[in-house]
Amino acid sequence: MYEAFFGLSRNPFKLSPDPAFLYRSPQHEEALANLIYGVQSRKGFVVLTGEVGTGKTTLLECLRDFLVYHHIEFATIFNSRVTPAEFFEMIAYDFDLRVEKPAKTEVLFALNQMLIQVADEGRTTALIIDEAQNLDWDVLEEIRLLGNLESREGKLLQIVMAGQPELDRKLDAPNLRQLKQRIVLRSTLLPFKEHETVEYINSRMEKAGMPDQQVFPPELLAEIHTRSQGIPRVINAICDNLLLTAFALESRVASVEMLDEVCGDMRLEWPGRRRRQETVDEPFPRPQLFRRDLGGG
Ligand SMILES: Nc1ncnc2c1ncn2[C@@H]1O[C@H](COP(=O)(O)OP(=O)(O)O)[C@@H](O)[C@H]1O
Ligand SMILES: [Mg+2]
Repeated sequence: MYEAFFGLSRNPFKLSPDPAFLYRSPQHEEALANLIYGVQSRKGFVVLTGEVGTGKTTLLECLRDFLVYHHIEFATIFNSRVTPAEFFEMIAYDFDLRVEKPAKTEVLFALNQMLIQVADEGRTTALIIDEAQNLDWDVLEEIRLLGNLESREGKLLQIVMAGQPELDRKLDAPNLRQLKQRIVLRSTLLPFKEHETVEYINSRMEKAGMPDQQVFPPELLAEIHTRSQGIPRVINAICDNLLLTAFALESRVASVEMLDEVCGDMRLEWPGRRRRQETVDEPFPRPQLFRRDLGGG
């Protein structure tokens, strides 16, 4: 909506996990390297955790691009609120297994055959599970058993699980001890530090066609960091709303006053937030525009 006004070629702050916009902070770089190494080294389980909006799904998308490019077979399970029966159905569907009915025994048989065939061709197979903190214990147990399938060369199925910090706690449970022992690589995504938030915003603006952006001045960038607490998803929502507000006011530069408005409308809370004074005068005319909210997932 505002792209043309700012001379941008595309929306810089879409909430989709688009690898084209990947900002390689050291921790994102390392986590992605771990995901890739974990699959390639055929050692078993890799786990990625982080708070909501820190970039887990984005890194999984990058991993998927890598796997496609390298002709590595994989299946992805995005909906982790499933029963064991549904889990096997999803496996059958996503790996395109030929089964009469997608019941556990048949799926396991077909999967094993497929895995051996792929391994014979010198290739590996991966199973990617997002939002893994939602997995039920009995599904986790099935996943652990899938991780046991092996040939003489090593594990047949490389399993990548991403999820919120609750996943770490789940994996610490005594009944998952065996699964935990099999995790070869574990990474955690933390919120950005201030200089990373600045680089992140600049990098997204650059990828959308504006190198050396001046829309967000330095003092505003620092303030966006404080209010977003360095969470990429929140940074995106704030910046998108700021661009929308600036556009509505026909201003090519966003301001801290606009940020106050945006954060108020987003009902955003952050540490050290002053109580908002009820002012009679609005700091600037309120644009009559629909503000995008934080979105889910
Ligand atoms: N390193 C990054 N580079 C570019 N965009 C990122 C990065 N980390 C997070 N994002 C963006 O932040 C938003 C939330 O990321 P997402 O991967 O959905 O987080 P999570 O899965 O951890 O909840 C998305 O718009 C995503 O593109
Ligand atoms: Mg996600």
